[in-house]
Amino acid sequence: MTQTWKYCTKMFGKTILLLLLLTQDSVKSLRLVDLRVPSHEREGGKVRLGCQYDLQEDKLYAVKWYKDGEEFYRYVPRDIPNAYYFHVDGVKVDIERSSNNAVTLINLTQESSGNYSCEVDSDAPYFSVEVRSKYMHIHFLPKTRPRVKGLKELYNLNELVAANCSLGPSRPNAHLVWFVNDRPAPVSYVSGPWHRVSAERPDAAETILQLSFTATETNFINGAIKLKCQATIAPLYQKEKESTHYIALPIIEEKEIKDA
Ligand SMILES: *[C@@H]1O[C@H](CO)[C@@H](O)[C@H](O)[C@H]1NC(C)=O
Ligand SMILES: *[C@@H]1O[C@H](CO)[C@@H](O)[C@H](O)[C@H]1NC(C)=O
Ligand SMILES: *[C@@H]1O[C@H](CO)[C@@H](O)[C@H](O)[C@H]1NC(C)=O
Repeated sequence: MTQTWKYCTKMFGKTILLLLLLTQDSVKSLRLVDLRVPSHEREGGKVRLGCQYDLQEDKLYAVKWYKDGEEFYRYVPRDIPNAYYFHVDGVKVDIERSSNNAVTLINLTQESSGNYSCEVDSDAPYFSVEVRSKYMHIHFLPKTRPRVKGLKELYNLNELVAANCSLGPSRPNAHLVWFVNDRPAPVSYVSGPWHRVSAERPDAAETILQLSFTATETNFINGAIKLKCQATIAPLYQKEKESTHYIALPIIEEKEIKDA
């Protein structure tokens, strides 16, 4: 009995040891810890893409960057110079601001949209390869706020209040919302949106949303109304245009004075 027990514990101990060795072995090779690629960036801007890895006991052979499967940057520590870049449409590498952990891309265009991958390769004896990918969308954003046309400062009772809010061109299309006294306008007040393709940017469009309603004493609180158009191109752009307007009410005789 004691013999068997001894044998069992011996075997059990060996298994534990083997398991430890196996797990340690797999932990020794490199790991790609974090790929930092923003999901949205603006056209004309620049971006720093980060690739964090943990070599453990491995030696780094190369860090490679790809866009849609095409390699555009390679860092090889033992080469002189240790960085290379390759021509890929829409990818302009700032070589001075790129190294083993990050690449900087400048002059982003619509062509820069795509699937970015970082690959980390280790040297002998493990020759491990770790890859991660993330999609980056490039948005074409307007430099201005939304414009509002058609509003007057003063309205008469029952007069039509009508205006258009427009923004653009942009890509993707903007999302426009009209607010009346800080609340989203009733659906019946709003028409559109319309999208008008830009002449100079056939891949981008202007967005227009109309507001129209009849001026009443209920709309104009104490004779005034606040109208606001908010434009959003999520998640990079949100701007608004707000204005206050007045209603001219017919003059009512002061009853109290008469009564007095
Ligand atoms: C992105 O690229 C990687 C590597 O080339 C590929 O494995 C992956 O499927 C791609 N993802 C998408 C969404 O295209
Ligand atoms: C990036 O854009 C700027 C401004 O438009 C231009 O002067 C510069 O030459 C461009 N750089 C590259 C590498 O294309
Ligand atoms: C707003 O724009 C639309 C589309 O261009 C047009 O049909 C409408 O008449 C305009 N409304 C106003 C109040 O200008």
